[in-house]
Amino acid sequence: MGYAMVRSVALHGVVGEVIVVEADVAPGLPSLVVSGLPDAALSEARDRVRAAVHNSGAYWPQQRITVNLLPAHVRKHGSGFDAAVAIAVLAAGADLPIGRLADAVVLGELGLDGTVRPVRGVLPAVLAASRAGVSFAVVPLANVTEARLVPDIEVRAADCLGRIIGYLYGSQTLLNPAAERPPPEASALDLADVLGQERGRRVIELAAAGRHHVAMFGPPGAGKTMLAARLPGVLPPLDDQEAIEVTALHSIAGTLAPGSTLMRRAPIQAPHHTASVAALVGGGSGLAKPGAISLAHHGVLFLDECAEFASGVLDALRQPLEQGQVRLRRTYGETVYPARAQLVMAANPCPCARPGGRQMCQCPSIVRRRYHARLSGPLMDRVDIQVDLDPVRSAALLDTEQVEPSSVVAERVVEAREAARERWSGLAKTNGEVPAAVLRDRKFRLSRAVLHPLTVEMDRGRLSARGFERSVRVAWTITDLDGRERPVAGDVCEALELRSRTVR
Ligand SMILES: Nc1ncnc2c1ncn2[C@@H]1O[C@H](COP(=O)(O)OP(=O)(O)O)[C@@H](O)[C@H]1O
Ligand SMILES: [Mg+2]
Ligand SMILES: [Zn+2]
Repeated sequence: MGYAMVRSVALHGVVGEVIVVEADVAPGLPSLVVSGLPDAALSEARDRVRAAVHNSGAYWPQQRITVNLLPAHVRKHGSGFDAAVAIAVLAAGADLPIGRLADAVVLGELGLDGTVRPVRGVLPAVLAASRAGVSFAVVPLANVTEARLVPDIEVRAADCLGRIIGYLYGSQTLLNPAAERPPPEASALDLADVLGQERGRRVIELAAAGRHHVAMFGPPGAGKTMLAARLPGVLPPLDDQEAIEVTALHSIAGTLAPGSTLMRRAPIQAPHHTASVAALVGGGSGLAKPGAISLAHHGVLFLDECAEFASGVLDALRQPLEQGQVRLRRTYGETVYPARAQLVMAANPCPCARPGGRQMCQCPSIVRRRYHARLSGPLMDRVDIQVDLDPVRSAALLDTEQVEPSSVVAERVVEAREAARERWSGLAKTNGEVPAAVLRDRKFRLSRAVLHPLTVEMDRGRLSARGFERSVRVAWTITDLDGRERPVAGDVCEALELRSRTVR
């Protein structure tokens, strides 16, 4: 009989908070009450924890047990508290000495047989513990590599509840497995594979340098998918903070490969066009799963065959793209996941998808118009670069001349981004994100002469105000890649040409 407490971590989105699991064992009919705003999974935990304790050979107190998770106002999702609950109950009711875990957080789901099973989100959970000054974390064995990515906290692993109990009695040790060799990182696809197709290569370079959203149209075989897949390879590597954020999101999604280390390369996600809204923006019960747009945080969200996506799905992307985060409405409020992804869209110019392109198209114009209606509107409004690509000529495929590899392009991208960051000094990080008001600011406004190609198009009714802004953003990126101070009329012309999507 007595009272005990063990610490664990609750996650809201990617933010963790250290919580206290307290157990009180008092005389009375054997029962277990869990309180502290538990969700459905937490009440299921009661049966799991009891069975796991039995099957670990420990004695389950036959008394009135109250378990409380504090602070009460913190929403607690998932099954990661099982191990902490079991230890707290045994300490309160069966005199298990918990001194060795006095300064620890304990994470892990319990199987009925007493195994400690992996949970999602161990990286952000341990990170939160470390930031809260906790110096020791016990995690499921399968999650030990991601937990070790967190500085300033000692990490040990448990494969079963019996081991944690044995550790507390001093008869067993926790596991400290040798670092697994990380799975070989697939080498990034290289732009050197893309022969000819100067326009497509230019689009990818500009998209990387300015962090512009892009849409590529062209017949099958034009190389759209090939180009998009090579964008991450020319994006700057993630810095420490970004790498932690991205890896944490993949930890919560449960998509980290065993043994994987911090993700340093910009991620790419290419959801299939049959993907649901939840798959794209996130959702699910309990600890919400981040969607493709969050798994593409600081990287690329590639919507291949984008005209085939349900329009509701595309609409659902608009707000997250604007805000750089996803807000998921949950039973208990809201979960927020970062979602600062760069959008790349690809589509055939029309539903018949003839290799010869527009000339060969046999679609009735109504069909073509309906197809393209899906690809206009508010989402497309955010896409700075919208181009038609022609298939590569056979001569280019036979040409043996060396094509510039991604490494060379990436160097120019880094320099261009540096120039942009300096210029916007805090107002924006990249040209693709500069607010329109900043573009119009006297300090950055371009002269009439430079803007002339755009004003002509606008006066002819062929360019909207939005399109005008987008072209100015792209013009700045062209300038930055060229290492010049300010756009000239030629830059504006090229930018205009890069939104010359002709299909209607
Ligand atoms: N510029 C190119 N250089 C080399 N191969 C190319 C090029 N364009 C297309 N290909 C070849 O054609 C295939 C189809 O390209 P893909 O990117 O799938 O086209 P799309 O997505 O436009 O239909 C590629 O796998 C590649 O083998
Ligand atoms: Mg394709
Ligand atoms: Zn057609």
